[in-house]
Amino acid sequence: MRSRRALLYVPGDDPNKISKAAALGVDSVCLDMEDGVAINRKAEARNQIFLALTSLGFGSSERLARINAVGSGLERDDLLAVLPARPDGIVIPKVETGEQVRWASQQLAAFEHEHRWPDGSIRLIVQTETARAIINLPQIVSADPRLDAVIFGAEDFANDIGAIRTREAWEVFYARSAVVTYTAAHGLQAIDMVFVDYKDPGSLKQEAIQGAKMGFAGKQIIHPSQVAPVQEAFTPSDEAIANALRIVELSAGFQEAGKGAFGVDGKMVDAPVVKAAERVLARARAAGKIPPLQ
Ligand code: COA
Ligand code: MG
Repeated sequence: MRSRRALLYVPGDDPNKISKAAALGVDSVCLDMEDGVAINRKAEARNQIFLALTSLGFGSSERLARINAVGSGLERDDLLAVLPARPDGIVIPKVETGEQVRWASQQLAAFEHEHRWPDGSIRLIVQTETARAIINLPQIVSADPRLDAVIFGAEDFANDIGAIRTREAWEVFYARSAVVTYTAAHGLQAIDMVFVDYKDPGSLKQEAIQGAKMGFAGKQIIHPSQVAPVQEAFTPSDEAIANALRIVELSAGFQEAGKGAFGVDGKMVDAPVVKAAERVLARARAAGKIPPLQ
């Protein structure tokens, strides 16, 4: 699965922001038709997104388009407007049931079939941002093989449960943790909440590191200044990589000698610690910091 350390939203009706986003080197660019676009600008967003996808180079960034919610009445025309431009994936907001995921996947399958694009080539990412979405995570994560990732939307979720957002984010901790747990059980990526204060990169970095420690694969972002701190937070440091390489190497030797547990620098290393080291190396590989496995 591709690396999605940072997923940048860009209002789909703003061509200046779109061309700026395309050149940032961010893992994923998400061209928005939903809440970042005013009701009377939805048609303009559809047109601009089609134009951008067919005429702009995005380098190695993933090209995503976010449609309006299934059931909003806008979702079908959103898809019809942008799918002919062959985005890499579609993001669906406010998903609450497995059925909504399958509906979207079927629309994409029909398009792929019609254009003779490979089955499943347009990926699907869903946003869970209501109480109902969180209690229905078991059916959402297992709904369709096209699904790559589940995004947690904290602002909408907090509104839905009547919570007030705080810097500490303890009011959304259960839901964040649930998204990580259910996605992990199905081999999907979890993508963490937006940090809205885009003039405070220090606190952003702290929240991103906390998300990485909780098991998130990446984080949604809203401003160019958030790309570097977030992508860094989800990339293992040189020190972590060196440490992981050492543990994996030592463990191979100890396994051969018939020892499952051993000590490194005064700390016990056994199977879960070796697995954690292997995950660090996988993240480093996905971020291009060490060469891919042969
Ligand atoms: N993508 C690409 N470029 C962006 C951007 C984004 N999300 N946000 C800001 N920029 C650009 C601006 O256009 C500006 O470019 P310029 O220097 O060429 O004029 C530059 O980055 C600096 O922006 P700044 O002046 O600091 O911010 P702003 O006042 O223009 O915009 C927001 C602030 C919050 C409106 C803007 O960041 C934004 O629209 N973010 C996305 C919001 C969104 O999509 N929300 C829905 C999903 S949660
Ligand atoms: Mg939302």
